[in-house]
Parts: sequence; C-alpha cells; structure tokens
Amino acid sequence: MQPRLEKLPSFRPDVLAWAANSDGDLVPWAVVELKTGQLKQPELVLPSLARSRDIMGTVDHYAVINGRWFKADRGVRSLEPVDGPTPPEYGAQGLLTDDELATSLLVQRLWFEASRLRDSGVRVGDAFPAGAALAETEQSYIELPDGGLLPVRPNVLWRAKRAALIEFASRGSSESSSHPAITSAVAALVEQRVAGTVLDPFCGTGSFLWAVLDRTARLEIPARFVGYEINPRLASLAAGIGHGAPLPVTIDEADAFGTEFVRADVIITAPPLRVRSRDHETLLDGSRTSDGDVVAVDKSLRALKAGGRAVFHVASWFTSSDRFASYRTFLANEFHVAALIGLPRGAMAGTGATSVLMTIDKKDPAQTFVAQLGEDWENQLEPEGAALNAALEFINPAATRRGLGQP
Ligand SMILES: C[S@@+](CC[C@H](N)C(=O)[O-])C[C@H]1O[C@@H](n2cnc3c(N)ncnc32)[C@H](O)[C@@H]1O
Repeated sequence: MQPRLEKLPSFRPDVLAWAANSDGDLVPWAVVELKTGQLKQPELVLPSLARSRDIMGTVDHYAVINGRWFKADRGVRSLEPVDGPTPPEYGAQGLLTDDELATSLLVQRLWFEASRLRDSGVRVGDAFPAGAALAETEQSYIELPDGGLLPVRPNVLWRAKRAALIEFASRGSSESSSHPAITSAVAALVEQRVAGTVLDPFCGTGSFLWAVLDRTARLEIPARFVGYEINPRLASLAAGIGHGAPLPVTIDEADAFGTEFVRADVIITAPPLRVRSRDHETLLDGSRTSDGDVVAVDKSLRALKAGGRAVFHVASWFTSSDRFASYRTFLANEFHVAALIGLPRGAMAGTGATSVLMTIDKKDPAQTFVAQLGEDWENQLEPEGAALNAALEFINPAATRRGLGQP
C-alpha cells in the first residue's frame, strides 16, 4: 500500500505493510524501498528506511534492489541479504486504529471515484462522487486501490468517513465546508447547553453536528441531531455518515427556507450567503423579506426553544449593514445577544467576506461579549485560545457550568 499521510505529504515509502500487534490493532509493521538500476550500495536506502521507522514506528525495514531482498538490522544501520520478508509476529489479522491513515485512504478513494465520474462527463464541482467509499457496509473496512479490504475499528471508520467527506468537500466542491477552527469554536460555544435536539438547518457535510456530537457523546448527554441540506448528494452522504453515529442523527434533503424547522434546544449553522428564500417571509419583528441572510437567522430563532442557544457563522454585513439595522435592534431588545466574535477574511471558507460568530440565547437581553480577531484568529479560537476562553467565561456563568454540580 502506498499511503499518503495528510500531515506528512513528503513521506511516501514505496511499500508500507501493516500487521496486528499483540492487542489486535493493525499498526505499521514493515517498510520496503524498491530500487532498480545502477545502485551499487544497498546502504544508500538506509536513511529513508530510518525515516520511516522514526515517523511510523515500523518494526521491519527492507530494501529490494533489482529484485534482491535486503533486511535492515534493528537499529537500521546495516543491511544483509535475505530470501524475502519475515512474516509478522502476530499475523496480518487486526483492525486499523489510525484515524489519520483511515481518513487519508478514504480521501484517495473519493478522488478516484471523482476522476471516474469526471471521465464520464460529470463536473466534480457540481456533484460529489457517488460516495461508495463512504457508503454503509455491513463490515467495517476500507477498500484499497488493489481491491483488498482493510478492516478498520468501527469508531475509527466513522470518524474517518466524516473527516474524509469534510476534507473532500473543502477541496473539491463549489459549496464550502466550514473551516475546522470555526467548527470546533462553534461546538465549544454551545457545549454547555447541549441537550434534547441539536439542529443545523444548512448542514452541508454535517461538520458542526459531528463536532457537537463528539463532545455530547463524551459527556454522555442524551441528545439527537438534525440537519437539513439542499444538495441531494451532500445530504445523502451526510445522512449515511449519521447512521454510524453513537447518538441519533437525522439528515433530511430539504430546502430549509421551505421547511418548518424542528423545535431545537441548540442551533448551530453557517447559512449560505446572499441567497433568497422562495417566498417573502414575515420575520419575528413583523417586517417582510426574502433576504436569505436574515431569514436563515430568523427561522432559526423562531425554532429555538426558550432558554436555548444558537450560534451562527454569518458574513459581517449581518452585524454592520444598514439593511439589517432595524432587525438587529429588534434582536438586541428581545434576545440575549451573548457574544459577537468578529473574524477577518479567510475564516469564512469560499468567500472573501469578513465574518462573525454570533451567539444568541433565547432569553431576556443582557450584556454582550464583543471581540474583533485579527490574523491570529485561529490561535485565538483554539480550545485554550484567549478569545474563545474569554467568550466562554462570559457566556457560561460559573453557576450554570456543567461539571460544577449545577443544572
Ligand atoms: C456554508 S455551507 C455549510 C457548511 C457546513 N457547516 C459544513 O461544514 O459543511 C452552507 C450549506 O447550505 C446548503 N444550502 C444552501 N441553500 C440551502 C437551503 N435553501 N436549504 C438547505 N441547505 C442549503 C449548501 O448546500 C451548503 O452545504
């Protein structure tokens, strides 16, 4: 197998063999460097074998020079001729447990499917691959390019499918999936309030839902997750991934503007920009519009249960444009706009617009946490990032924090 590890794009051994360790986990076991031609000294491959050992923790290291096998000693300092590879100690049966490698293999499969679709005349920008690599299978495995099936631990495969879809969507599709730093910040902003129903009405790959679901499952909080997505292929891929989740997930292919939202305790969403709803809608403040930016927020707040929390990633014209001034005044008078975190260009994928992470609680107005982040916005929004922590302290008063014995 020729792996391509996302974090190590330059690391590509000729052959990487996997085998089970004593726990039954499939781990990198042997590396083989293949050389043909005039290579006089097999020892010249030792540095790349040693690099494989350092990066992958492999056990056995081989060079095949013009068809002749050599095996490196334990320290990968010398080579001696052998008849062929030594069988692994615990055999080849085991389960892959490496998230990154599983994701990388799935992304390769998706590109392979996409290139087949392109060859048959489908534009990949318009359509996701059929997604066979992400489809549900009875057994938990990844199909390799040579047709072999690599068994994968089920929870690793579930996480890898999500990550592969998000990565593929962010590289290959005209619809953008959210930046990972935004996704994790959104999940952190709602974490303390997760319960009951969690909704993303413009869910795309489902990245926001999965991020919240991970934290919810870890905290063993009972909750269900609902997503709407207008792109049928994306909706069906996200729905397929939802089936494998440890908590109930429903993803519907739907035009959110024409759908009555399920009542939700938590809403997290990055609505599409500059779209129009099918009809003019009457907003909570009594005004009428078909402007998708405001209709998306308004429909969400309407569906939010009393005491619930919504986090929106919206373009900053929502919080600055005169167009929305009277609606903003209405929001400030009727809801608790808990936090506004301004973000520079680049934080909202697929657009040059600056953006805002807007946290709104459905309760009486109170003070708002306001921050404008600069170029280091990704660091600021990391789990220990200063801006995220300051926002969390502000919007989750100590008395209501989970883990402190409070409700
Ligand atoms: C900014 S993306 C959401 C990204 C998402 N957070 C993710 O990481 O994949 C907006 C999504 O809304 C979807 N969308 C656009 N119009 C929609 C509509 N009327 N109803 C439901 N989904 C819609 C798009 O197909 C796109 O996937």
